Amino acid sequence: MDAITVIRAKRDRAELTDEQIDWILAAYTDGRVAEEQMAALAMAILLNGMNRREIAHWTQAMIASGERMDFSALTRPTVDKHSTGGVGDKITLPLAPLVAACGAAVPQLSGRGLGHTGGTLDKLESIPGWRARLSNAEMLAVLADAGAVVCAAGDGLAPADRKLYALRDVTGTVESIPLIASSIMSKKIAEGTSALVLDVKCGSGAFMKDFADARELAETMVALGTDHGVATTALITAMDNPLGRTAGNALEVRESVEVLSGGGPDDVRELTLALAREMLAAAGLDGADPADKLADGSALDSWKRMIRAQGGDPDAELPVAKQTHVVTAERAGVLVGMDSFKVGVAAWRLGAGRARKEDAVQAGAGVQWHAVVGDTVKAGQPLFTLHTDTPETFDTALESLAGACEFADEGTEFTRPPLVLDRVA
Ligand code: URA
Repeated sequence: MDAITVIRAKRDRAELTDEQIDWILAAYTDGRVAEEQMAALAMAILLNGMNRREIAHWTQAMIASGERMDFSALTRPTVDKHSTGGVGDKITLPLAPLVAACGAAVPQLSGRGLGHTGGTLDKLESIPGWRARLSNAEMLAVLADAGAVVCAAGDGLAPADRKLYALRDVTGTVESIPLIASSIMSKKIAEGTSALVLDVKCGSGAFMKDFADARELAETMVALGTDHGVATTALITAMDNPLGRTAGNALEVRESVEVLSGGGPDDVRELTLALAREMLAAAGLDGADPADKLADGSALDSWKRMIRAQGGDPDAELPVAKQTHVVTAERAGVLVGMDSFKVGVAAWRLGAGRARKEDAVQAGAGVQWHAVVGDTVKAGQPLFTLHTDTPETFDTALESLAGACEFADEGTEFTRPPLVLDRVA
């Protein structure tokens, strides 16, 4: 077997055989296939696709490239959630401890932000002392103690995906349904969760801009999970407008704690509860009402236990940016749209995200918005506050925000679009 034959096959729209898939992923992981050869194959897959059999086998080969975790010693049922990534998407932060407070064990292996979407680990690292890197034994101990753990995936989990994702990121080959589905699901299946709920984002701030693509991605991932014995469902949720009222690391932690304390923005609370109900049903725990656990303080207690178990101080002051800049509304009207992609890029440019994997992020940087879709705004009223330690980034953030808000005349009737667009099981 050789790499050129496999690349040519996909270039010429042939189906890859199981043997070709096993060989190329094993040879790439141990360095026998060069980065440029894998880049060519990834581009051929992006352009010509893979069928369900190829995707299933590709996923299986990525799982087999590393270790599998085992949570069978836990007494609680395990259930995880994965979001395909959005702007202001801090849902994991309130969701994991909330579902733990309802009786499940939530092993949540998360990633860092790249480009305009934030990363859960970057957000949690704004909490003084909190550690993302845990050994497998530490991860199990936190899970047994706090009921939820959010940490970085260890190097042993799906190493083929780790290498391939970094390569796709710099070769314009991220936006491929077969590659996204196999990348996400290989990690989730290797992680060893019994049940999984996928939050597939759809809209301007998501990988999938239109509904048909989001639905295809959701169906592909649900089928992969189900075939591997993981009880998997997906919600397709709106990502045209950013979630909540903030995008940025410490800013989003603050907002998540508000939700855990029984308040917070309506959309963050609504989506947290919708996903919590899906997760509890998938784990066979539909008896508990997660809304009660937000109201009675038990979800907040779980959060504090989870943060402390990973070295963090949940009561410490969160970092704030050194400089702020307020953007006001140029006209009066009803806010009918806020482009989440533009808001995400602004937060990233202010220092909340990174352009390259090795860049550092600023804990206090980001964007806060003072109006949400459906609000009536007066001219001159504050619309955004920009936060950063590097005020020279204000100009580029402002450029990105230009045209982000769409207004209709005062008095225009406006109904907020639904957050949950569809469910795939
Ligand atoms: N997240 C992943 O883990 N992989 C992808 O390919 C895209 C998003």
